Amino acid sequence: MGFPDNFLWGGATAANQCEGGYDKGGRGLANVDVIPTGPDRRAVITGKRNMLSFETEYFYPAKEAIDMYTHFKEDIALFAEMGFKTYRLSIAWTRIFPKGDEETPNEEGLQFYQDLFQECQKYAIEPLVTITHFDCPIHLIKEYGGWRNRKMIDFYEKLCRVIFERYQGLVKYWLTFNEINMILHAPFLGAGLTFEAGENEEQIKYQAAHHELVASALATKIAHEIDPDNQVGCMLAAASYYSYSCNPKDVWESKQSDRGNYFFIDVQSRGAYPTYALKMLAKKGITIEQSKEDKALLKAHTVDFISFSYYASRVAASEDSDVQKTEGNLFPTIKNPYLEASEWGWQIDPLGLRITMNDLYDRYQKPLFIVENGLGAVDSPDENGFVEDDYRIAYLSAHIKAMKDAIDEDGVPLLGYTSWGCIDLVSAGTGEMKKRYGYIYVDLDNEGHGTLKRSKKKSFYWYKQVIATNGEDLAQKE
Ligand code: BG6
Repeated sequence: MGFPDNFLWGGATAANQCEGGYDKGGRGLANVDVIPTGPDRRAVITGKRNMLSFETEYFYPAKEAIDMYTHFKEDIALFAEMGFKTYRLSIAWTRIFPKGDEETPNEEGLQFYQDLFQECQKYAIEPLVTITHFDCPIHLIKEYGGWRNRKMIDFYEKLCRVIFERYQGLVKYWLTFNEINMILHAPFLGAGLTFEAGENEEQIKYQAAHHELVASALATKIAHEIDPDNQVGCMLAAASYYSYSCNPKDVWESKQSDRGNYFFIDVQSRGAYPTYALKMLAKKGITIEQSKEDKALLKAHTVDFISFSYYASRVAASEDSDVQKTEGNLFPTIKNPYLEASEWGWQIDPLGLRITMNDLYDRYQKPLFIVENGLGAVDSPDENGFVEDDYRIAYLSAHIKAMKDAIDEDGVPLLGYTSWGCIDLVSAGTGEMKKRYGYIYVDLDNEGHGTLKRSKKKSFYWYKQVIATNGEDLAQKE
């Protein structure tokens, strides 16, 4: 009982939040580079404020981030010291194809990831690679309008072929699109979409989502053709919705909200647009242009496993209910009176993880992989960079315990767990450095000042012991 012997313990990062080196090694510019910190960030992320190049009065944290581009060997050695079995990272598309539509890839970029994967191999760490984690070349946005254009499928296909071939034998686990459902809430971040006044945003978002869904099925097909050992997963920003009350209207709202997220995974895992989505699109007057082959492709090439992020549960209510709002992953939710929240207002709910796991497994009957989970918190290091992050340990151990219950008590198959931001990195939502998730502290502040020195937090030693005991010893040591 407990976690299976081959359970993949590890941590997760994304290129744009940790690599930096935005202009090194022939890399091109991407949407994620030109998202500033400060009050305009939200407008840029959602495509309301068109920012496709650097503007002088803004600070862009992804440009340098924590410079993992040059520190990756040191960082992977630290992951290995914790006993990581897997490391989730993403490829920066513009390292491989700086503009996105070139004929031939950039060798320096390909070599960078090859070196990185070989470094993982040295420590028997299995890479788990997100092909696009909120990442779209600027040239493809300027020239083609990002994922609103069907041509993106071809560019993405090319990227996939190149990386699947080059990294065959080094990488086996792939995720096609990070948090694919975020296209609805953060369309510039998720799909390089910007909008002109008067455009039907929903029409554009669902059409772009269709392109991503087709691209995802195509990637799954190619991955399996190139190497039958490849395992491809979808990736959902998950968290089941609770009904605010037992008022049937609230219950109905929560069901509708869940479907808003499940829609993507229903297509990627079950292989077709669900009937409720067809009705919803028709009601909104949205028509999805699709080719004859799309349906067959979606049907034939469903994912091997379901990966997801989980930070906090969500609540839905009808307009009749009088509710308060609180912050959540990229968009606000309703305040749940039974839960405590993080310093950023994200509600802490370990049982919600078990509920979400059960909901996902009941629906899809495929193995799950938790590829993001964690507590974003302010850390106060001592003069040696040591952080006594008992709050983080408490959050993580409660969530790991909930995972264990889902495995042991409910029979949910779980492939692995990569907690988010295993090394401190730039926050996707706010662009801050002070919102830290890591076991490893990085000396860098919100304005980009710091030595970049890495140091181990208390949670580093705690997670090491969790992995060494395969999740049996979750206790906090003094
Ligand atoms: C997910 C993303 O939305 O949540 C990550 O996949 C992100 O990129 C993470 O960093 C945590 O969110 P935040 O806003 O605290 O960085």
